[in-house]
Amino acid sequence: MTHILAIDQGTTSSRAIVFDRHLKVVASAQEEFAQHFPASGWVEHDPMDLWSTVAATARGAIEKAKVTAADIAAIGITNQRETTLLWDRATGHPLHNAIVWQDRRTADLCQSLKDQGHEPMITERTGLLLDPYFSGTKIKWILDHVPGSRDRARRGEIAFGTVDTWLIWQLTGGKVHATDATNAARTLIYDIGRGAWDAKICALLDIPMEILPDVRDCAADYGVTRVDLFGREIPILGVAGDQQAATVGQACFQPGMMKSTYGTGCFALLNTGADRVPSKNRLLTTIAYRLNGQTTYALEGSIFIAGAVVQWLRDGLKIIRTASETQPLAEHADPTQDVVLVPAFTGLGAPYWRPDCRGAVYGLTRNSGPAEMAKAALESVGFQTRDLLEAMRADWGAAADGVLRVDGGMTASDWAMQFLADILGAPVDRPVVTETTALGAAYLAGLQAGLCPGPAEFQKHWALQHRFTPAMDPTTREVRYARWGRAVRATMSV
Ligand code: G3P
Repeated sequence: MTHILAIDQGTTSSRAIVFDRHLKVVASAQEEFAQHFPASGWVEHDPMDLWSTVAATARGAIEKAKVTAADIAAIGITNQRETTLLWDRATGHPLHNAIVWQDRRTADLCQSLKDQGHEPMITERTGLLLDPYFSGTKIKWILDHVPGSRDRARRGEIAFGTVDTWLIWQLTGGKVHATDATNAARTLIYDIGRGAWDAKICALLDIPMEILPDVRDCAADYGVTRVDLFGREIPILGVAGDQQAATVGQACFQPGMMKSTYGTGCFALLNTGADRVPSKNRLLTTIAYRLNGQTTYALEGSIFIAGAVVQWLRDGLKIIRTASETQPLAEHADPTQDVVLVPAFTGLGAPYWRPDCRGAVYGLTRNSGPAEMAKAALESVGFQTRDLLEAMRADWGAAADGVLRVDGGMTASDWAMQFLADILGAPVDRPVVTETTALGAAYLAGLQAGLCPGPAEFQKHWALQHRFTPAMDPTTREVRYARWGRAVRATMSV
């Protein structure tokens, strides 16, 4: 058995990638699924869509790789985090659509819990903030709105899971109800210091603890797949939330190393080692990975709109047909204009945490057009990343001169990456392999299967494709960043 199957269940699509034992991509398959927006600020997925697209792409990738299930030594799972599901343990039927991480329906609940003074206690235990982003208030919402569900939960009839847990349940035919430490760390009900579900926060949110899954290491035994799925049992041996899997795939194993992934949103993680660094600057303290019972922590900055701003240029403004048109447009923008776009389409994430805020554009002239908007869109991603790195530097001195390793679709744009290096005033490294999320999941499964070497050896295989070095003069950098800061403050005050 020489191959590993990575399942990457994301916000807009499910992907499956077959890697060989040297962690080279052999084949992949991808399927998009429907997004449901039942009310303003609400985002749902049909749990059966998540499962059926995962099953179909897993089979598709194995077929394309021209291998059989007998060649697959292990499965690694990585997933969109925080998205919340509850289902009936006996029938496997979901109680409700999955409430997606982007969903803002519990904003008022979060505000009232903050007003009651609960946030410091929650942050101290979970490393998170009282924001609708996380699973805890979404679980409460489902239990509050599906009649009889809380009583049934107390009787042990209901299971909760993030997407990894749902997929493990489906893959194992309901035999395993488990999650990994990184996904647990995003729920708002998991104490990341003690490594245990938190009874006090569960009581505050009226969440019966009978619904909670077992929490395991990222490289661990998660059971075997049902025989009818692939023709034989395949062990599931690796699990991590997608941003943590990317941290592993980027080989950010040393304290001080950081990565930033540019997908729908942008998520920057800084490895802080065995230190659980509390943030004074509204970042999240989270688990980077847990191996052999040892937890490595990270500071995380989460931005909700990154690649999605390019989608907006395409689908909203209709000024581009494909994402790759953004770069040539930006290159031809009028250099005398300074248009600033604050893409707070679904509120602002770190370090502002303003779910109520909406986007704004500043500095328009009669000559502003598609080129200036494209430039402002790409620059907004750089400015937001700088906000995160400023907060990281302030929280943890060891982050001061860090190099940023980047991955995700948007990193294909040299222009965007050069601007990122310019505005950060720090080197930006783009690796040869940008499939880092799936790579991280495959590595974790391969590590547990005994196919892959330990982290020290694995990190030697990380290869640089291009380093972007800051070229902007420092005065321009600071003048432009200060203008961004004024634009964000003005947007928040509207
Ligand atoms: O926290 C949300 C994140 O895990 C979603 O990532 O790549 O599915 O947009 P992605």
